[in-house]
Amino acid sequence: MSSTAKNFDEKARGEFARLGTTRVHRGELLRHPVYTRFLHWSVAIFFILSLLTGFAIYSPWLFHWIAPLFGGGPRTRLLHPWFGVLFNVFFLFQFLNWFAPMAWTEADRRWTKRMRRYVTNEDRLESEDVGFFNGGQKLYFWAIVVSAILFLITGLLMWFDDVVPRWVVAVSYVIHDLAGLLMLAGFIIHVYEGTAHQPGTFRSMIDGTVTERWAWTHHPGWYRAITGRDAREDYEREKRRQEER
Ligand code: HEM
Repeated sequence: MSSTAKNFDEKARGEFARLGTTRVHRGELLRHPVYTRFLHWSVAIFFILSLLTGFAIYSPWLFHWIAPLFGGGPRTRLLHPWFGVLFNVFFLFQFLNWFAPMAWTEADRRWTKRMRRYVTNEDRLESEDVGFFNGGQKLYFWAIVVSAILFLITGLLMWFDDVVPRWVVAVSYVIHDLAGLLMLAGFIIHVYEGTAHQPGTFRSMIDGTVTERWAWTHHPGWYRAITGRDAREDYEREKRRQEER
């Protein structure tokens, strides 16, 4: 990433830290600063608005109950591309914010090979080499990057269909809809992972913190990097303490 983008991101983090607060209590760690939380929820709001208006346009069956929420059919069609543009704008800043921790590594390739064990909760602790984000989270992030680019290009081609050849517009419809379905599937998995599958994750996007126990369970590499302690040792110590009680 260019140093200008990096400087901008660092400055924005600093400004937002002054606007909001993140309290980290004993036994907790800072996971997502105010700026990251602001970007994440802005992306999420405009994604959901784009999805709802998009589905209303796509399906007449959904249209009759979603479109009235946005002031009727013509207004839903008018709003959809603007929600999409705002989703792209916020996601661009989120991209800059998360570019570094989302870099794909050898550890992520190994994680994808263990994905079945992860899904079925076979291991009590994640592997030592899982850092700030795991391979699945990175796959989701990069799928959004690709989809956001596809949404933008095909969306603009459909928006200005009076100056674009008809076959290009027709192909754009198909690509736009396929990207939408991919994102919907990713979104459903993401919400499940961020809430029910991993209790204690959701609060990281609300107050910015997680417990140390959460960190050594799901992201041992990150836990070691910020505390200097070994995740498995701390887990075993905590287990013994619980058993002695
Ligand atoms: C509305 C429901 C949503 C919930 C409950 C939710 C929850 C969360 C939580 C708790 C995290 C932090 C995970 C961690 O620190 O390990 C997170 C991260 C993230 N969120 Fe969301 N989110 C939602 C919507 C969205 C939407 C709509 C998008 C984009 C289209 C999105 C994109 C991401 C990405 C890329 C990450 C980082 C990678 C990951 O954790 O998968 N989220 N989300």
